[in-house]
Amino acid sequence: MVDRFGRTIEYLRLSITDKCNLRCRYCMPKDGVTPVSHDDILRYEEITRLAGIFAHLGIRKIRITGGEPLVRKGVCDLIGRLKSVNGVENVSLTTNGVLLRELAQDLKAAGTDGINISLDTVNEETFRKLTGFDGLPQVMEGLKTAFDRGMRLKINCVPVWGINEGDLCDIALFAKDRPVDVRFIELMPIGEGRGFTGISSNEVLYLLEERFGKSWTLSDRGSGPARMRSFAGFAGRIGFISPISQSFCSSCNRLRLTSTGFLKTCLYYAEGYDLKGALRGGASDEELARLITGAVKEKPAGHRFGEKKDAFEEKRMYQIGG
Ligand code: 5AD
Ligand code: SF4
Repeated sequence: MVDRFGRTIEYLRLSITDKCNLRCRYCMPKDGVTPVSHDDILRYEEITRLAGIFAHLGIRKIRITGGEPLVRKGVCDLIGRLKSVNGVENVSLTTNGVLLRELAQDLKAAGTDGINISLDTVNEETFRKLTGFDGLPQVMEGLKTAFDRGMRLKINCVPVWGINEGDLCDIALFAKDRPVDVRFIELMPIGEGRGFTGISSNEVLYLLEERFGKSWTLSDRGSGPARMRSFAGFAGRIGFISPISQSFCSSCNRLRLTSTGFLKTCLYYAEGYDLKGALRGGASDEELARLITGAVKEKPAGHRFGEKKDAFEEKRMYQIGG
């Protein structure tokens, strides 16, 4: 599918639950959220059917997100099913790592092509303050297990003033001895995130270079929005994803499907398309495909963070999946 701005849409981010086993302060409201009722969540059969239609329309890559996707039972089965959908070339996962130690082996067996681990701190105290749980050792074990099983790993860190500015260099150190990408992602003013100030990519780079010396740009931009850099003596790479300071909307290749089957063409806007309603209302594959291509036609040019009159997005990050 090509949208009206010439962008080829081939990447689907699929949220399979809005539940999470952590409560990161910039993401989840303190008092928790009203969980979506079980009936409103797409069943795996429904997801697999939709995936077939998306793939037919040109989606090549699917990333499973949440909330925290590993809290939903049977996620490895789902990955296995998605892997066998005709046309789907890559199925990957974004996780907070809490359940990774238990599931790494099954994820690998299911054919998971890559795992992004969200890790904002390597300090146990900061982790507890940020997420509300004493879970860092468990995440580290999960990380190690997945790495030892030979899985492709990336570490994603959201730098936030007052939370983890003192930990950024230590997180970058993951890329020193291992061929692992560590990526710093700018905080977007969505939901709880509005109450915090993100640290911009340039500021992070400055902090890292103060400690590790000058870095240089790598020309390989890969398929994603990260701008990759290398530091002397590092086996892995350091990436910067800068939705705020250097928006990459003009090359956005993605769609998002929430766990309730709501299709979003951009995370910023509240608008979306109720695929679940259509699907459960008896729509044929052709009708669903038409809904999806219609949505892609309307895909906006980009987000409008920073334009002050920020539209109030109804959907939060734990609903639409990072
Ligand atoms: N801006 C950027 N990233 C966010 N995440 C949660 N809220 C935000 C936000 N406002 C990230 C988490 C995790 C992923 C699922 O989404 O840190 O990496
Ligand atoms: Fe934290 Fe991610 Fe869970 Fe949000 S979804 S509370 S960022 S682990």
